[in-house]
Amino acid sequence: MRVLEGEKVTKYFGGLAAVSNVDFHVDKGEIFGLIGPNGAGKTTLFNLISAALPLKSGVIKFRGERISGLKPHQICRLGVARTFQAVKIFPNMPVIQNVLLGSMFGTPTAMSSADATRQATELVEFVGLSAVSATSVKDLTLLNQKRVEVARALATKPELLLLDELMAGLNPTEVAQSMELVTTIQGRGITIFMIEHVMKAIMNVCGRIMVLHHGEKIADGTPQEIATSKKVIEVYLGE
Ligand SMILES: Nc1ncnc2c1ncn2[C@@H]1O[C@H](COP(=O)(O)OP(=O)(O)O)[C@@H](O)[C@H]1O
Ligand SMILES: [Mg+2]
Repeated sequence: MRVLEGEKVTKYFGGLAAVSNVDFHVDKGEIFGLIGPNGAGKTTLFNLISAALPLKSGVIKFRGERISGLKPHQICRLGVARTFQAVKIFPNMPVIQNVLLGSMFGTPTAMSSADATRQATELVEFVGLSAVSATSVKDLTLLNQKRVEVARALATKPELLLLDELMAGLNPTEVAQSMELVTTIQGRGITIFMIEHVMKAIMNVCGRIMVLHHGEKIADGTPQEIATSKKVIEVYLGE
């Protein structure tokens, strides 16, 4: 089943086609990867899916229903959560409260505050932050701040999770831990669409990958197909 589908998705910034006529789909349960050089349009595509930006043309469907035109909070409550390339958390609030925001404002149906607290506590533990649950997120490492964002996104009970460069800026050990986290989230039945620069991560965890270049889709396929695609190799060697 297709969880997410895009048809001829297009976005201009002035005269620049940041995303141009991109067709894609994400199947239920998979980890779908999105790669491409800096400025390829990857984050813009996530902004279009989550309605942080309006489409110029094309259609985006979630579970077969058109979501283009909805507001970001509506899309979140339908079951699409995201993280940000540059983490967007509330720096002076403790970990648990950042996560609680997801439980209290992003879920499809309202939760009692006791249930929200229980769920947020469980998610803080799930991402490995129980020991710093009461710490202000500004005092955490980048890895842990990213984990707060993941926990907050999960707190909205998503069916689809969009991860924008979760591994950027992390050391190899942290990358390995993050890869494990991503596969564990998939194990919970959540479909994942991830943008990633760390090739090892994308090649190891994704079932399928799409490549954007100057806003256009230049390839999609299995990691093996992408790694051996002449077009993709040219783009990366020419970078
Ligand atoms: N809000 C914006 N206003 C104007 N131009 C933008 C905006 N966001 C992104 N861009 C431009 O669109 C292109 C794609 O950016 P982006 O989607 O962030 O690329 P990526 O995430 O693949 O590195 C870039 O040329 C970028 O400068
Ligand atoms: Mg980006």
